[in-house]
Amino acid sequence: MCDKWLDLEAKTVIITGAASGIGKEIATAFAEQGSNIVVADINPDGQEVLSEFDGGADKHLFVKTDVTNQEDIEEMVAQTIEKYGKIDVLINNAGINIPRLLVDSKDAKSKYELNQKSVNFMIDINIKGVLFVTQAVAREMIKKESGVIINIDSECGLEGSEGQSCYAATKASLYSFTRSWCKELGKYGIRVVGMAPGIMEETGLRTLEYEEALAYTRGKTVNELRTGYKNVSVPLGREGKLREAANLACFLASKRAGYIHGTTYNISGGKSRG
Ligand SMILES: NC(=O)c1ccc[n+]([C@@H]2O[C@H](COP(=O)([O-])OP(=O)(O)OC[C@H]3O[C@@H](n4cnc5c(N)ncnc54)[C@H](O)[C@@H]3O)[C@@H](O)[C@H]2O)c1
Repeated sequence: MCDKWLDLEAKTVIITGAASGIGKEIATAFAEQGSNIVVADINPDGQEVLSEFDGGADKHLFVKTDVTNQEDIEEMVAQTIEKYGKIDVLINNAGINIPRLLVDSKDAKSKYELNQKSVNFMIDINIKGVLFVTQAVAREMIKKESGVIINIDSECGLEGSEGQSCYAATKASLYSFTRSWCKELGKYGIRVVGMAPGIMEETGLRTLEYEEALAYTRGKTVNELRTGYKNVSVPLGREGKLREAANLACFLASKRAGYIHGTTYNISGGKSRG
């Protein structure tokens, strides 16, 4: 249902990684508000996801985009401008998490130790992808002197996380981007904010490969890990709902959040307070 209080109707919103999980739910929520949606995802399934959104085909666009590929980024921005003539909101949501130990003391040839490949993969998508997508989009926002950029971090970016040190470090860098870009872009009327989810409902991120790796790094079985999702010390005693993250994104993108700039909101049920 379109909420006049948020006033997001006809806003053009690019969401990277919106073929799945948190990004898809954010896109769904903006579509309900009557926004123009751009799904920028490496996964071609993003095309099919469009049919699930409110509004007609003239309000939805999928551009197959690898956020690590500069040509893809420029093509995605060009198609967005061609279809909608402007970009109002960018949600930097695409991200990956490969659980790995710094040192595996049990196995010198461990496949669960960080190496050049896994580290580069996370840095390329989670840091460089965010930077270069934002650079291309900010060029357009500067022309019209308005816009909102929302970086999807993780509460572990500040808290740290056992078996996820590189992932957490990439997410910590987004807190820093948010603070610096607020200083660079504020003068053009562009707000930059972050959102840091904690443990959320299941998304595409929670594959068996991910769970096996995370369980190994924590000396647990996959079943123990799964039981633990609900038992970790979250003061609210439950996982976060994807819609709760989407609601926060809609609020932060709206004029109601017009003086919120350069800061990152925790959405973790109190697991860590940022
Ligand atoms: N799920 C959680 O509990 C949780 C917690 C904290 C932070 N986050 C963050 O939220 C964001 C979304 O995660 P999710 O849980 O919804 O995962 P997900 O795997 O369901 O969604 C991630 C999306 O990113 C896309 N993607 C991956 N590599 C890409 C690339 N190179 N270019 C473009 N798109 C690419 C995938 O195709 C997928 O659609 C991530 O940045 C993640 O780090 C998630």
